[in-house]
Parts: sequence; C-alpha cells; structure tokens
Amino acid sequence: MEKFVRIEYVGQTFNTRSGPFVALRDINLNIRQGEFVTLIGHSGCGKSTLLNLIAGLARPTEGVLLCAEKEITGPGPDRAVVFQNHSLLPWLTCHQNVYLAVERVFGGQEPKAALNVRTANALHLVGLSHAMHKFPREISGGMKQRVGIARALAIQPKVLLLDEPFGALDSLTRVHLQDELLRIVAATSTTAIMVTHDVDEAVLLSDRIVMLTNGPAATIGEILPVELPRPRDRMALLDNSEYAACRSAVLNFLHQRHGRAAKPDNTDHRPGPDAEPASLQLVNAS
Ligand SMILES: Nc1ncnc2c1ncn2[C@@H]1O[C@H](COP(=O)(O)OP(=O)(O)O)[C@@H](O)[C@H]1O
Ligand SMILES: [Mg+2]
Repeated sequence: MEKFVRIEYVGQTFNTRSGPFVALRDINLNIRQGEFVTLIGHSGCGKSTLLNLIAGLARPTEGVLLCAEKEITGPGPDRAVVFQNHSLLPWLTCHQNVYLAVERVFGGQEPKAALNVRTANALHLVGLSHAMHKFPREISGGMKQRVGIARALAIQPKVLLLDEPFGALDSLTRVHLQDELLRIVAATSTTAIMVTHDVDEAVLLSDRIVMLTNGPAATIGEILPVELPRPRDRMALLDNSEYAACRSAVLNFLHQRHGRAAKPDNTDHRPGPDAEPASLQLVNAS
C-alpha cells in the first residue's frame, strides 16, 4: 500500500508556562507498507514528538494521522514502539517481559501454549533464546535493547516505531544491532519508522531519510531517497558512491543548511534534563 501511514498537515503546539510553544508545523508525509523511514534532525527539533504522534501517545493540535486508512487516536497493537531506554520490568525475566505484551494482544484468542511459542519465536529472532529466563539486571544493555525489540516484534505490529533505539549503546553493539534490525525487517516485511541522530545508521537502514529543520516550528526540510540495493552489507557500502552521496547530502543538510544555532529559543522547553549524547557524534562526523 502506497500510503500506509499518512501524516497530513500535522502540527503540535505545547502549552508551556511561558505560553504556547510550536514544536512542529505542516508535517506531510506518506509512508509505504514495508518501507523503512528514518527521521533525522538536531536534538530538540521534534523527532520524538512526531514519533509519539504516530504511536498515538499524543494527539496533534493540527492535522490528522492515519495508519492503514484508520485515524490514529491512541496507542494500538498495530504500532509498537521501541524506546532508547528499553523500559523492561525489572522483576520479570526476558521471557516474561515479552510474554506480557503477547498476552495483552493475543491472550483473548489463543491458548497459553501458543502465546509461549510467539514469545520464544520473538526472542529467537533477536538471538536471545539462551537468555530468555534471565532478569534484566543479569544481561547487558545491548541485550536489554534486543528484548525491547523482541517485545515490539512479538505483537506483530503493522508499524515498528523506534526512538533512537541504539543511542545509549556502545558503537560495536550498535553496529551489531543495526545489522540485526536490517535482517529482521527484511524477514518480517515490517514497516519501520526510526528516529536517529546517526547519519551512517540512517543511510544504512533507510529507504528514505526524512530531514527535519531546527525547531521551534520544525518541519520537513528535505526527504532523501536512499537507492541502495538490499540486502545491504555495511562493509561493501564503504566504497559505494551512492552511499557516500547520501551521507554527504544528510551531513550537508544538517550542518551547512540547518546548523545548530545557539539561540535562546532553541533551548529545551521540557522540565528536567534531556541529555542526548549521540548528537555529539553527528557534529564530529563531518
Ligand atoms: N510535553 C512537552 N511540553 C512542552 N514542550 C515539549 C514537550 N515535549 C517536547 N517539547 C519540546 O518540543 C521540542 C521537540 O522535542 P522532541 O520531540 O523531544 O525533540 P527531539 O526528539 O527531536 O530531540 C523541544 O523543544 C521540546 O522541549
Ligand atoms: Mg527525542
């Protein structure tokens, strides 16, 4: 389906103590079924805000979002989210964490044995069969993140939403999980929308890279199609001219045309800290 996810004239304004704050404006984007789209932009531009709108965790103040022709009015099992911080329940094992989500979606119509099979299959897909009875405190950060991905995939969502899922991981683990994600989305034909700060990650994974302008009132500045054949091999891409061209187009957008201005109105309006160390990498990447 050409317009599987439809985002039409979407805007998001937050009410803050200092008055209305326009985070996003005029967002128009259609995403095909099976497409992998990344959202990239500087910290605080509104990437998470947009992803949360697709997840149904918030409602837009303007415009409309649809998934498979249905308006998105709240969270639903057709859209699963993976956050940067795995958000596993610490008192449950990896298996139980995934099972909980499976039970919520399929519990009404399937016996327990079938739910266990779904859970085991999802953990197998992310290479965690051996660790399924461990508790989150007993496994590494990369493994926790894989449980988060397994939990999202286990409910067989139509759309997988990922908000900087590898942002908190060391670079070797990140590279490994990127390759796994490539393999998994190819095997399951899931539509994926992923927020990232990482230019190489965006080019490696995407069919299209959606570049957001700086906030406030951020919008889509440019959409870059990545016409690299799949399956993609990270090592082979190093000498690929299309890869290099995509990479420099994104870097050019982010640094030449939308370089991060140190203006007071570019500050974070949320209460509390919002550390995003991955943004530093981008700055160093050019
Ligand atoms: N609930 C909220 N209330 C007020 N401002 C918010 C809220 N959520 C996000 N914002 C602001 O909207 C902008 C975009 O935030 P966010 O989507 O988290 O950025 P990104 O994910 O691109 O780093 C930021 O300026 C942020 O401070
Ligand atoms: Mg964010």
